[in-house]
Amino acid sequence: MKFATKAIHAGIKPDPGTGAIMTPIFQTSTYVQKSPGDHKGFEYSRTQNPTRQALENNLAALENGNHGLCFSSGMAAIDCLLKLLEPGDEVISTNDLYGGTYRIFTKVFSKYGIKFHFVNMEKPEDILPLISKNTKLIWAETPTNPMMNIIDIKALGEIAKSHKVLFGVDNTFATPFLQTPLDLGADLVMHSVTKYLAGHSDVVMGALIVKDKKLADDLAFIQNSCGAVPGPQDCFLVLRGIKTLHLRMERHCQNGKTIAAYLINHPKVDKVFWPGFEDHPNHLVAKKQMKYFGGMISFTLIGNKIEDAIKVLESFEIFVLAESLGGVESLCGHPATMTHASIPKSEREKVGLSDSLIRLSVGIEDAEDLKNDLAQALD
Ligand SMILES: Cc1ncc(COP(=O)(O)O)c(C=O)c1O
Repeated sequence: MKFATKAIHAGIKPDPGTGAIMTPIFQTSTYVQKSPGDHKGFEYSRTQNPTRQALENNLAALENGNHGLCFSSGMAAIDCLLKLLEPGDEVISTNDLYGGTYRIFTKVFSKYGIKFHFVNMEKPEDILPLISKNTKLIWAETPTNPMMNIIDIKALGEIAKSHKVLFGVDNTFATPFLQTPLDLGADLVMHSVTKYLAGHSDVVMGALIVKDKKLADDLAFIQNSCGAVPGPQDCFLVLRGIKTLHLRMERHCQNGKTIAAYLINHPKVDKVFWPGFEDHPNHLVAKKQMKYFGGMISFTLIGNKIEDAIKVLESFEIFVLAESLGGVESLCGHPATMTHASIPKSEREKVGLSDSLIRLSVGIEDAEDLKNDLAQALD
């Protein structure tokens, strides 16, 4: 099945009792058993729920995996993955990443004896000196957040495989419509489902998708033991959102291209970070592994003053100043004080995240209106 068909049909069956075409919201905590252990495959909704199961199967199909697991947030999904590790284990991560991921690594799991290394992975071989017998996980975001670097998933996958290290990719920015890391050698894909997958800024959720059964079982054991699962109503909303993922992503990417081209020619804009530019340092890798270049764009202002960035952010009329991304509406944000405030300034500056950097999540509105909004805000 091709992507659009899978988005609408994969994992979803009409309700056998009624024929309802939409997967019902199974708002139940438990399931009746005929005799102890004699049930229909569902015992308790922390462990399994039919609405959640439909979504997990749909996500597994979209990422070309075999098993999906949903969580109450993207961070809960990362938390579950990290609980596979033991004291003394080491993780090598991209150095430009979502602030909350950096925070859970450095402030939560480092307390339990896990060591984290942060490295620019634009040249995948740069991770080689950090690999030791203790390395248990390689973690990459691509495009990176918020600098929009592209990491070569296939090259990293080969390194991870040759060293027998688990390799996970946060695919939140790209979505499986643009790239499928499991096909390129990743062992595990993570999503903040909150973003493009849900797509309508009305749900917080996370997911892990894998091919390997043993890995899926180990993660499901932690998912059930720790219990950070989403409710059925949220699963229903995401199932509904995903039915238009391909249409939304096409428009996000088209509008992203239009806005990036507009910004690069604007006299008040200094740098524009978007992997679709031919002179973007990782453009060729992006072209190789992504279908289009996405709707996330970061840019800095001439003079690089934080006051100017704040003034622009306060002046938008259509772009909404808010945390998050990937919804139908265009959002803008100031990573240094918002999404990435939990990363120390010295670390932010190392990856080029300057105080005037503005991040846009370009929505699916009319591109002309978005350009006009940028024009008046920059003026
Ligand atoms: C790339 C990325 N990964 C993970 C997360 C965390 O996901 P959630 O907010 O759903 O917990 C976010 C949230 O912004 C994100 O942007």
